[in-house]
Amino acid sequence: MKNQACIVLLAAGSFLLSGCVSQYAELNAYVPGIGEIMGQQIAMRHIKLWYAGMAQNWALAEYEIKELEEGFDEVGERHPTLERITERVPVLIAGNIQKPLEDLERAVNAHDLTQFAQDYQALTKGCNTCHRAAGFKMNRIKQPDFNPYSNQDFQIEN
Ligand code: HEC
Repeated sequence: MKNQACIVLLAAGSFLLSGCVSQYAELNAYVPGIGEIMGQQIAMRHIKLWYAGMAQNWALAEYEIKELEEGFDEVGERHPTLERITERVPVLIAGNIQKPLEDLERAVNAHDLTQFAQDYQALTKGCNTCHRAAGFKMNRIKQPDFNPYSNQDFQIEN
């Protein structure tokens, strides 16, 4: 290959590469805050899980539990520490959320509505215990009494 052609190719290559690198950096620059993940993902899944359970749509309930697990994994990975407290976030999650989610999974697999409702209370308690531990006790979570997701049919398809 002629030298000139090589230089042109090299320049094009590095241009492309720098484009990719800066795009990659941009994609990685956005890290949702813990409040954002909580408000937009965790709180939403917590509501949907309740209505999926009440409709005995067990497949949907199972899905929402998985999404909650993923959401909490994301919280722990992206925000392992908090300014106000010394305890690590993944430790708080493991201590307050893991067992209720596992219990819920069992209730869902057994299609046990009564057990589901009990385990859901335990999950909600876990949310609040962690909020208190994280210096955020004014943020109290409760069992939802109204479904804001009116565009979703929680009933099982017949
Ligand atoms: C690691 C412990 C921890 C657990 C477990 C936890 N949270 Fe949170 N949550 C936080 C912290 C910390 C904040 C405050 C984030 C901030 O500083 O902005 C928060 C904030 C929130 C908010 C406020 C977000 C907003 O914008 O209004 C909601 C809603 C919320 N959590 C819901 C839940 C629900 C529902 C659960 C249980 C299914 C839960 N959280 C479990 C730590 C936790």
